[in-house]
Amino acid sequence: MSHEKVEKNLGLMIVLVILVVSFGGLVEIVPLFFLKDTTQPVEGVKPYSPLALEGRDIYIREGCYVCHSQMIRPFRAETERYGHYSVAGEFVYDHPFQWGSKRTGPDLARVGGRYSDDWHRVHLMNPRDVVPESNMPGFPWLAENVLDGKLTAKKMRVMNSLISATCNGCQTYSEEEIANAEAQVKGKTELEALITYLQGLGTAIKRR
Ligand code: HEC
Repeated sequence: MSHEKVEKNLGLMIVLVILVVSFGGLVEIVPLFFLKDTTQPVEGVKPYSPLALEGRDIYIREGCYVCHSQMIRPFRAETERYGHYSVAGEFVYDHPFQWGSKRTGPDLARVGGRYSDDWHRVHLMNPRDVVPESNMPGFPWLAENVLDGKLTAKKMRVMNSLISATCNGCQTYSEEEIANAEAQVKGKTELEALITYLQGLGTAIKRR
């Protein structure tokens, strides 16, 4: 029987397994290349402002992603709590992605606009001042560290090359924006930059 032939012939089995897996993989992957939803920005999603971009880097440096995801899954329990589930076109300017997978704290994909800047300021200095039961650490040094903006233009150029390599209908930073970046960032505290970043998260799609 032909089935017996396949099972008893290792070489043939390997070739057939590779064929089946490749076909299955292609069927899943290839349509994504042609689906606009996954490669084009959601309307209203913009590249991070220079200050928000610095905030994004502080978010990464301080390891916020260790406790916070930025990915709302399409389940009732999640959309009731956080708002519209995340869609691919919202992340076209995220290099690297901050999706994460650990949720010691809540998902932050749509935290933008949920609280005031003042709330964030107090919360990031000492979370227990606004959420008594919180076990999130405080980050008081962010209020003391002042940015000089020396690397901001360079970061924007790196972003430009990543954006143009990965996204079709995306905006890149103009030369003028890059030239003005240092002035926009210089003298701001890391706390301000981080809050600017947080306040923009997920705002292109209304939370509710
Ligand atoms: C050790 C885990 C941990 C780390 C690290 C952490 N957080 Fe949190 N975070 C929490 C927990 C737990 C909560 C829920 C209690 C609260 O609101 O403080 C929370 C809440 C928040 C909230 C409020 C979210 C909401 O929808 O109510 C924001 C905003 C936030 N964190 C931002 C940050 C940022 C920015 C950083 C990095 C500078 C950070 N967190 C680092 C655990 C953490």
